[in-house]
Amino acid sequence: MSENKKLVIGLFGFGVVGEGLYKVLQQTTSLNGTIKKVCIKHPEKKRNAPDTLFTTEKEALLNDKDINVIVEVIDDAGAAFDIVQTALRNGKAVVSASKKMIAEHLPEILSLQKETGLPFLYESAACASIPVIRNLEEYYDNDLLHSIRAIVNGSTNFILTKILEDKLDFADALKLAQELGFAESDPKLDVEGYDAANKWTFLLTHAYGIVAPTSSILFNGIQNIQLNDARIARGRECEIKLVAQAKKLDDGGVAAFVLPQFVPQHDALAFVRQEYNGVVIESGFADKQFFYGKGAGSFPTASAVLSDISALRYDYKYEYKKLYYHEPSKLSSDFYLKVYISAADWSQLPKEELEWIDEWHSGQQRSYLGGVIHYSRLKDSDWWKQPGVSLILAPEAIIEPGELEQLRPVRTKASLEDILA
Ligand code: HSE
Repeated sequence: MSENKKLVIGLFGFGVVGEGLYKVLQQTTSLNGTIKKVCIKHPEKKRNAPDTLFTTEKEALLNDKDINVIVEVIDDAGAAFDIVQTALRNGKAVVSASKKMIAEHLPEILSLQKETGLPFLYESAACASIPVIRNLEEYYDNDLLHSIRAIVNGSTNFILTKILEDKLDFADALKLAQELGFAESDPKLDVEGYDAANKWTFLLTHAYGIVAPTSSILFNGIQNIQLNDARIARGRECEIKLVAQAKKLDDGGVAAFVLPQFVPQHDALAFVRQEYNGVVIESGFADKQFFYGKGAGSFPTASAVLSDISALRYDYKYEYKKLYYHEPSKLSSDFYLKVYISAADWSQLPKEELEWIDEWHSGQQRSYLGGVIHYSRLKDSDWWKQPGVSLILAPEAIIEPGELEQLRPVRTKASLEDILA
């Protein structure tokens, strides 16, 4: 597509993001792009746009020779993938916001891009308004990218802020996130960490060339966080955040997971509140960089979709540099995590799973312990996701195998027996 070529857009979906894009495009005359048709599922709904714009026939967009860009912002991952496949095969560039679809179909999408040579862009699918994909793709060399820590789900961050700072209860905080258009239509995807883990899979592709399904990542959400955990966090001058992390280990593998964490109040991620997202990148020579912006909502998400549409004017494509031009990294499962676990009673805490325990106490309602556990012990089990059990990472949670022995506390046998008793 040359720079002056008009972008004729076929839009799938007119929900929070689709309608936001429609309004944003009306105010962006410099783009030389217009929406020709919008395909929707529910024609009976009242929309803030002329009726003639809408159709329920996907072929009306996918087979229209004038339409050179398909923008897909629907909720159904299976239907979204069908649209993407057909659009690319019909010679149209595609912009998508469907993180679940991308996470579930990335290998096929990579093949389709190779086969058709057409752009498939999805900046809005992770961290909405923050240009994290293009930055990871273009700016950071694989070898120099030491670590990424990020808040990638706006709804859970919003809920945590509302519960822990504004004292709302969970149900009210979630309802507000839904009313404001932040939450997925199935809010379990947000609350239980699926959405963050889905986003993390393709951010790992752009950061490290890793192509792995969501199931290969250790993750949890915020569903089991207790108010008492927040009190303990405050006592340690920390906030609780749902943090996605990736770190290059000494052996070249990448430790990657999405879990709640105690984040020290001086850490940049602790300042990320409400529906905002944040990304801290640590790279060779540059040290730390922090990206911050709205991670959910109509206009912030539409702004990233708009930026992708705009990039099509100069034929921008992801090159997947870390995957195709570097030696791609591999996910590692050989590292340890420093954890803090609380449960309704001791029997829910399999103490023998931990390498060591260096902190433990019992309150009236809950028991707590802190210690170190091998990543695989968590990956291969789910006791720590059960109702009533809450597992939160300590700050600086990753311990490499080579560091373990020097960190292991010196303990007498008697004191160990006290804990296990
Ligand atoms: N439900 C998502 C979130 C929307 O809260 O982050 C943006 O991807």
